[in-house]
Amino acid sequence: MKYKQELAEVLYEVLGHEIQVKELEMLIEKPKNPLHGDLAFPCFALAKVKRKSPNLIAQELSGSIQSSTFEKVEVVGAYLNIFLNKKLVSEDTVAAIIELKENYGALDFGNNRNVTIDLSSPNIAKPFSMGHLRSTVIGNSLAFIVEKCGYKPIRINHIGDWGTQFGKLITAYKLWGEEERVKQNPIKELLTLYVKFHDEAENDPELVEQGRSWFKRLEDGNEEALALWQWFRDESLKEFSRIYELMNVQFDSFAGEAFYNDKMDRVVELLEENQLLVESDQAQVVELTDEGLPPCLIKKSDGATLYATRDLAAALYRKENYDFDLSLYVVGNEQSLHFKQLISVLGKLGYSWAKNMIHIPFGMMLKEGKKMSTRKGKVVLLEEVLSESISMARLNIEEKNPNLANKDAVAKQVGVGAVMFHDLKNFRMNDIEFSLEEMLRFEGETGPYVQYTYARACSILRKANWKIEDTVQTSSLSWEKEWKVVSLLAEFTIAIKRAYEQFDPSQIAKYIVDLAQAFNKYYGEVKILEAGDEQQARLALVYSVTVVLKEGLRLLGIEAPEEM
Ligand code: ARG
Repeated sequence: MKYKQELAEVLYEVLGHEIQVKELEMLIEKPKNPLHGDLAFPCFALAKVKRKSPNLIAQELSGSIQSSTFEKVEVVGAYLNIFLNKKLVSEDTVAAIIELKENYGALDFGNNRNVTIDLSSPNIAKPFSMGHLRSTVIGNSLAFIVEKCGYKPIRINHIGDWGTQFGKLITAYKLWGEEERVKQNPIKELLTLYVKFHDEAENDPELVEQGRSWFKRLEDGNEEALALWQWFRDESLKEFSRIYELMNVQFDSFAGEAFYNDKMDRVVELLEENQLLVESDQAQVVELTDEGLPPCLIKKSDGATLYATRDLAAALYRKENYDFDLSLYVVGNEQSLHFKQLISVLGKLGYSWAKNMIHIPFGMMLKEGKKMSTRKGKVVLLEEVLSESISMARLNIEEKNPNLANKDAVAKQVGVGAVMFHDLKNFRMNDIEFSLEEMLRFEGETGPYVQYTYARACSILRKANWKIEDTVQTSSLSWEKEWKVVSLLAEFTIAIKRAYEQFDPSQIAKYIVDLAQAFNKYYGEVKILEAGDEQQARLALVYSVTVVLKEGLRLLGIEAPEEM
């Protein structure tokens, strides 16, 4: 990024201040083939201004680019291909990493402003699904990414702990539930009760009515209903926190749907004041026909509030309490319509900040090409997946490195990291196929591969007994063989910026896989520990690789063991 900017500044001068630096910087590309240089500047856009052929412009410009950073300039057609001064750039990059350490690559455009991130948000009394895993992992990584850009992330777990389903659950529990059984295996037992309710209710309208009336009582603050609800909630959160602990995910707030119970009247009043509420089929709705959307349901005929009502209250609450600059919702693609409606209704209320609310959708986790569904029993339980992944990692360690200290801790880092990385390596909108074997592979684009590369680099530094104080500023190293690794290190900020702009952690995942591959290739070709004047420079490069791999993994929420 730095060199792109530097080139833009040089071009700005050369072109006689005709085109702004920012504009020039946007035109600069990275050649696909490294043999064509490190940066490329296409002259098509200039041809219009200068009324000359792009090739002629490129030729004229090529002679006037003079700077120690740019070693060589070649003209190919309409392009200026620019080669960076390897020695200068390499020594510069390594020195920057050694100075900044884990802060290397950071950006500051966030200016310490708040970004709320609605993530994970599972529903109580139900198993933690793969969809919630995706939201957790993607949201957690986005929190680290926005933080790296200078924002203050606020992670909010909008727990699904309110709604008509709890009326049904209470009914089912009162009819068929046993306290002891629920205590022993809360989520499984509650799910069974819920499924039974649905089966029975199919031919029993009376049951449906009971469910509705229990929810009404719950909303009206009936003690018995509230106590049962509280119990279901507590038990569910206990299970969820075990998963969060495994994945090392923390939240700033667990204000779920129920939290907004006493904040919804205000939403209804606001909508009324603005004459937005209309009656439709005895329910209260906001019409969104002008925006090409179906109406947003606010209140049912019996006065019960809805998911959307609670989300409206939550949005207002978040704006007032966190004064967010951006408000992100990491929620599956199937809720796109809901978020469109939410944002439209807030827009109609006149809140200009509604446009800073962004739904960040993601695709599904598939098993053998099919959607996993709770009802059909096709669900894969996340906790089982994580523990299986950890034991597979443990076996692997036993096989490859039986003398490793703290095997359990490392197995956890690798096993959990594998699951998380598998989720983050593809663009989030893609559906992903669930496969433990694939996740845990030590080669290819996997978490363990990156972690293993990191551990390997750490071991080189240990063997050499390298210390940061040993760093020398210059050496006789030409940095030819190191160039691929260095140029990737220099691009860390670009990957971070791209991940931010597209709210896409896979930009970071792909970047660290590339870096790991380039480093392993280098490791195979060069005797890093060979004595000589160049050794210290090579070791400083190895150190730089460890810093960036570890920081890249951290941005994905994944730990990096130093030995594995
Ligand atoms: N609990 C919801 C579900 O599992 C997700 C909630 C997402 N967040 C929100 N603010 N609506 O479908």
